[in-house]
Amino acid sequence: MTAKFWVFEGMDGAGKSTQAGLLFDKLASEGRNPIHVREPGTTTLGESLRNMLLDASREDWHQRSEALLFFAARNELLRQQIAPALAAGSDVICDRFTPSTFAYQAKDNSDFDFIAGIHRLVVEDIAQPDGVIIFDCEPETSYQRVGEGEAPDGFENRGIDFQRKVRRNYQQFYARFPEITLVVDCEQRSIEDIHQQVAGWVESRRDD
Ligand code: ADP
Ligand code: TYD
Repeated sequence: MTAKFWVFEGMDGAGKSTQAGLLFDKLASEGRNPIHVREPGTTTLGESLRNMLLDASREDWHQRSEALLFFAARNELLRQQIAPALAAGSDVICDRFTPSTFAYQAKDNSDFDFIAGIHRLVVEDIAQPDGVIIFDCEPETSYQRVGEGEAPDGFENRGIDFQRKVRRNYQQFYARFPEITLVVDCEQRSIEDIHQQVAGWVESRRDD
């Protein structure tokens, strides 16, 4: 059994955590001993950076400063949890990874190249995702789902136009990396229906 690394992506409120939980339960029931981690967070550095980066009252920082901080959290998570789990034969489900940095911290193509360059330096030799699943819906829908939950964080607070840009950047990520990416339509679909599509795709990409 080869351990696999699955990344769950999408706008805030699209349904990532719900679907990550369902895939986790399925993989656990198949004896794949999965772990479920989230970015930024999980490690002590990640949780500290999460508090700083998501603070709704902080001043604006340059998008590349934000990107570097997200990569610091990513490096820690990769080395402390993701790589050891994969080496031990456990599947990894990660709520957000480098595609989030493309989606949230890229303002133009040169930012995309900047982020791709850091990804090569920090991530590529350690562990690469086997699949990226982007949960896609109208920004208005994700906005409404977020609004029904906890108080919005600093990124959720940036407004609907920012969420539209995030969605466009995810579409650009898919255009650049279609071979590892599944875009799932989450508009007006049941949680179970979406789970079946995700589980089917994950199964089709396994080699055991
Ligand atoms: P994310 O992790 O992307 O922020 P969540 O999984 O936390 O999103 O879901 C946000 C909210 O939307 C939750 O209240 C969840 O129950 C609800 N939700 C998730 N998927 C769907 C869906 N397909 N249809 C309607 N509501 C959904
Ligand atoms: P989180 O609560 O984990 O996301 P969600 O609301 O979807 O469950 O919040 C993480 C926030 O951090 C989210 O708004 C996206 C943002 N983020 C970036 O801007 N860049 C990144 O590289 C990552 C990993 C997250």
